[in-house]
Amino acid sequence: MSRLPNKIAIITGASNGIGAATARRFVAEGAKVFLIGRNEQALFQIRDELTPDNCDVMVGDVSTEKTNQEMVEGCRSRFGNPNIAMINAGVEGAAALIPDYPIDVFDEVMAVNVRGVFLGLKYSLPVMTSAGGSVIITSSVAGLKARGMGNSAYVASKHAEIGLMKTAAIENATNNIRVNCVLPGPTETRMMRSIEENRAPGDAESVKKEVIKGIPLGRYGTPEEVVNMITFLGSDESSGCTGGVYSVDGGISAY
Ligand code: NAI
Repeated sequence: MSRLPNKIAIITGASNGIGAATARRFVAEGAKVFLIGRNEQALFQIRDELTPDNCDVMVGDVSTEKTNQEMVEGCRSRFGNPNIAMINAGVEGAAALIPDYPIDVFDEVMAVNVRGVFLGLKYSLPVMTSAGGSVIITSSVAGLKARGMGNSAYVASKHAEIGLMKTAAIENATNNIRVNCVLPGPTETRMMRSIEENRAPGDAESVKKEVIKGIPLGRYGTPEEVVNMITFLGSDESSGCTGGVYSVDGGISAY
């Protein structure tokens, strides 16, 4: 039996990585998905793969009000009011200690990861069906801990996402809308490749080995492992869960 029958889901940051893997799983589980990302070609490929009956896409920047308004309207006119909003788009920023951290990069990380999540909540919550809605925000183990150094903007933004999630969960519990965060640890996507390269240009592999030493399970996670948790949170199986953080981090948060 499918786990997301007749659900309608908005997914941001769906051109690749965890967002794209979520789109594939959601459709396999019976949902229709409306995807937002920056890479037009990648989005069109996913739409073709999942078929236009099940999937539509929109190119946009989640840090803008316009994109968030248009994504909600686009989803409503194409499939109907969303039951699920997966607010997932994010950027990693630079690798630099605070005195050296570029201010423009700090502002960009805050714009996408914090303003983008706030706007996603602001425009999706009012149209989520009274039949019950589920919002999933992709925070990070960096939402709980400042592991390593040189990550100030990312760590601050991922902590802020948890604050937004908790506020939205409390504000919407009586509306039958649940709001939760999934907290991945290092996961095999473009983002980890970029973080490794930023920390040691030309020697990403050595950074990966160091990062893995700090993961009890001894490896990076896969997007599909994170999607297992997202699917649970999006489905009615998680009907008792709101305001929570759900780690998929190979044991890092146990330290
Ligand atoms: P990714 O880089 O593969 O995917 C990020 C997605 O966000 C892309 O589709 C990109 O186009 C989109 N995006 C970025 N800025 C955008 C903007 N302004 N407007 C619209 N879309 C935008 O990375 P990944 O790993 O799939 O990341 C997804 C989420 O998971 C992010 O929020 C990230 O912080 C979080 N995360 C990732 C971890 C990892 O190790 N890969 C670990 C913990 C959290």
